[in-house]
Amino acid sequence: MGWRERCKEKITTAQEAVSHIASGDKVIFADWVGEPPALVDALVARYAELENVEIIHGMSPGPNAYLDQKYTGHFHHTSLFLGAKSRPPYYAGQVDFLGGSNFHEWPQIFEESPDLNPHWALVQVAPPDEDGLCSFGNSCCFTEPAVRTAAKVIVQINPEMPTLGGFRYDITKADYIVEQSSPLYTVGRAEPSDVIQTIADYCASLVEDGATIQLGIGALPDAIARNLMNKKDLGVHSETLTESMMELVKAGVINNSRKTINPGVCIGSQAAGSMEFYQFLDHNPAFAVYPVDYVNDPYVIGQNYKQTSINACLEVDLLGQANSETVNGRQYSGIGGQLDHVRGARLSKGGKSILALKSTAKNDTISKIVPCFVPGNVTTVSRYDIDYVVTEYGIAALRHKNVRQRAEALIAIAHPKFREELMAKAVEMGLIPAQG
Ligand code: COA
Repeated sequence: MGWRERCKEKITTAQEAVSHIASGDKVIFADWVGEPPALVDALVARYAELENVEIIHGMSPGPNAYLDQKYTGHFHHTSLFLGAKSRPPYYAGQVDFLGGSNFHEWPQIFEESPDLNPHWALVQVAPPDEDGLCSFGNSCCFTEPAVRTAAKVIVQINPEMPTLGGFRYDITKADYIVEQSSPLYTVGRAEPSDVIQTIADYCASLVEDGATIQLGIGALPDAIARNLMNKKDLGVHSETLTESMMELVKAGVINNSRKTINPGVCIGSQAAGSMEFYQFLDHNPAFAVYPVDYVNDPYVIGQNYKQTSINACLEVDLLGQANSETVNGRQYSGIGGQLDHVRGARLSKGGKSILALKSTAKNDTISKIVPCFVPGNVTTVSRYDIDYVVTEYGIAALRHKNVRQRAEALIAIAHPKFREELMAKAVEMGLIPAQG
């Protein structure tokens, strides 16, 4: 008997499925591009009947209507990552932010934290096969852990969703099944500025043939990827699978032939890009997605040969600590999987982690290489984990360097107009001896 016959009692509308959610329940949405639009819209439409529903979510490129101030008292939020839309309500006190946990640990939180152990998981899947096995499509990351830990699961089967290799969910285990098409959330690309292109050139120069790479999304990773076209035998083990990886696969640069775990396949926990990219991924054996507690586990990442992670940060101090989450003492984004990948690369034989940043902010008025962080700014990557730091002025290789060498290397990649001041501070802090 096929899944449809076995599940006929569970197949329903989005409105009926979410009508079972009660005041005070904790509801987790599949993350980011995997957020299920039909289920989220149906829940938001019920707001007047509900009080204090705790919505647990990451950062979605969707409308994020549930964050509107008019739902205060009906919905409260725990955000796992702050983005442009969740930042203002966080500053206004409507959203709790879950700092202090790495991305690969979030599934543990759903299991172990009484505050965040969900009553409901609302997720999206690609059309199942005859037996009911289906892919979480472009977002397996914490979708699978959410489904694993929630008391009840509502699934939107979205015919638009691609089937990716890797993890399969048995839809017969869901409590409610909604068949509804919704446009997928896509993530656009940005053209690099000259500064970004220069940083990308330096980053790409550190990527060796045969390396397994992790890249994020945005203008910098895209520019880096374009510079990798002349490399050989690259592999992918990355939190996010990106459109630029599709181009490198098509060009034969990424072939995963020298990977030491999961050979032959680009591994990710989610995929973000255009519809063209999602269609390329559909049933493509070169790509597979798995839950984030596997993909981002530093011990798993570290089993790759020459794992090379490239991520952005906001500032680096002269002790060699990076802040990737806070601006002017306030939370700006989140750690995501940055430290997972920094540490994984460090565990990898021949591995490297690269943190990239523009040397300045606000039209060259602020140096992003600083003597010390202001109070409230956090250390995302400590000096015990940091490896390469790259700006448009070059590469600072910090691993195994003493404190003087670290400060000197970082001052050398600061914007020239701030170098003298940074040097004076480094002397004052006792990092660099005073001359003569
Ligand atoms: N002091 C003051 N302001 C600063 C600043 C500093 N040191 N650094 C940046 N800013 C400002 C910028 O001017 C910009 O402001 P604007 O929007 O008004 O122009 C804003 O802060 C954002 O800076 P920007 O450099 O444009 O950030 P970004 O959008 O490129 O994001 C991170 C960079 C680090 C926040 C982002 O990559 C991130 O959240 N990383 C952590 C998670 C991660 O790495 N995930 C992937 C792991 S797999």
